[in-house]
Amino acid sequence: MSRFQGRVCIVSGGGSGLGRATALRLAAEGGSVAVLDLALESAQRVAREVEAAGGRAHPYQVDVADPASVRAAVDAAARDLGRPQVLVSCAGTGCFANSHEMPFEDWKRIIDVNLTGTFLVAQAVLPHLLDGGGSIVTVASNAGLMGIAYSAAYCASKGGVVNLTRALSDEYVKRGVRVNCVAPGGMATPFQNAFRNMPQGADLSSLGKIRSPLGMAEPEEVAALIAFVASDEGRYMTGAIVSIDGGITT
Ligand SMILES: NC(=O)c1ccc[n+]([C@@H]2O[C@H](COP(=O)([O-])OP(=O)(O)OC[C@H]3O[C@@H](n4cnc5c(N)ncnc54)[C@H](O)[C@@H]3O)[C@@H](O)[C@H]2O)c1
Repeated sequence: MSRFQGRVCIVSGGGSGLGRATALRLAAEGGSVAVLDLALESAQRVAREVEAAGGRAHPYQVDVADPASVRAAVDAAARDLGRPQVLVSCAGTGCFANSHEMPFEDWKRIIDVNLTGTFLVAQAVLPHLLDGGGSIVTVASNAGLMGIAYSAAYCASKGGVVNLTRALSDEYVKRGVRVNCVAPGGMATPFQNAFRNMPQGADLSSLGKIRSPLGMAEPEEVAALIAFVASDEGRYMTGAIVSIDGGITT
């Protein structure tokens, strides 16, 4: 397939996990991919992987929670690769915590990266998308659609991404920009390490509902869905929240 031939695609959090798989997928289908990540070395590694596979990619360092950093990275990508037509927002962070003990800095970092960061990258890319059309795919989580103990900040941030997506979709639907959200369940990525530490006194049985009988998804499976939604095959989709979570939010 070559659904992204001639298209410039920006992938935030492209240095690892789902962002890496998405960057590789979009590039394999002909896209020129800007790989944005806080960890420049990871972005560089993924860009090299894309090029080794015969694709085109450039790495950029970005902190999605910092408006100036986001603007600089998006401007540089547009200068180097051309007008962005696709944005996939994969950058994310999280951890388990007892809400009554959670340090303010942890709450703030999770909201800043997951929710504010998704908005800031969309805000910086939108002028390009409005100049001829395009598509945004945000990444939420089953955690944006259900309550999960010890995950107040993460659930709040991803619930915010869900409704941010709907609001942006409504605002831009008549102006050639589709905005959709993919909501994965557990994926086998380094992200899982951040959730290994349980808070003191945690009742593990309350977390049974976030385990699917189907186990974890591979990031490539979720990237395939993102590619469909972002491509012209998803033409009639906007404002959609698409779960890919092994049935845990049924
Ligand atoms: N892995 C899962 O089980 C799972 C489940 C549901 C949703 N998600 C969501 O999927 C998305 C991708 O997660 P993943 O599993 O690939 O995780 P990951 O940890 O493998 O990758 C996340 C990437 O985001 C980058 N990042 C973090 N903070 C950033 C910042 N401030 N600015 C720019 N980049 C930043 C990291 O450096 C990393 O490369 C996240 O939004 C996550 O919340 C993950």
